[in-house]
Amino acid sequence: MFSIVPMTIDDYDSVMDLLRKTPGVTFRDADSYENTRRYLERNPELSLLAKVGDETVGCIMSGHDGRRGYLQHLVVAPMHRRKGIANALVEACLARLASLGITKSHIDVIRTNLDAQKFWEKQGWNLREDIYRYSFIRNGGPDS
Ligand SMILES: CC(C)(COP(=O)(O)OP(=O)(O)OC[C@H]1O[C@@H](n2cnc3c(N)ncnc32)[C@H](O)[C@@H]1OP(=O)(O)O)[C@@H](O)C(=O)NCCC(=O)NCCS
Repeated sequence: MFSIVPMTIDDYDSVMDLLRKTPGVTFRDADSYENTRRYLERNPELSLLAKVGDETVGCIMSGHDGRRGYLQHLVVAPMHRRKGIANALVEACLARLASLGITKSHIDVIRTNLDAQKFWEKQGWNLREDIYRYSFIRNGGPDS
């Protein structure tokens, strides 16, 4: 059995450990301790962990800009997959966002990550074929 609890900055090391160990997850300069602390402060109680006992076995981070929600870093440890943990993390996030009036959310998925695509499609998420995402780095390195 697992429980879902809000992530705090004290969980930084265990979450980064989980992310680093997971193939297909992109880890960037933006995931530094200081940036994560600021993100959690700006988006309180919107990033969640799945715990089995004391062990962090899953995570999701989310925030919003006042209009739309943005989910990222959904990861479940390989040994704990296909038990509904990711489903529960996403549902808990969306419920928290909805309680703040945010009813539409987005997630970026790397095109080669087919498992993730299957997961989001199973959750009923709509693949956007009508938009491209453009990004721009100002004063940062390629891993910004
Ligand atoms: C994608 C991921 C988060 C799914 O976590 P999970 O806890 O295993 O997912 P759930 O158990 O909640 O799955 C719910 C449903 O999604 C679908 N699904 C999940 N993983 C799937 C896979 N690898 N292949 C096909 N369908 C899958 C299934 O329909 C599943 O229901 P079922 O087990 O009853 O068939 C996990 O595989 C993971 O951490 N992958 C690596 C990191 C990653 O790619 N994250 C997403 C970035 S956008």
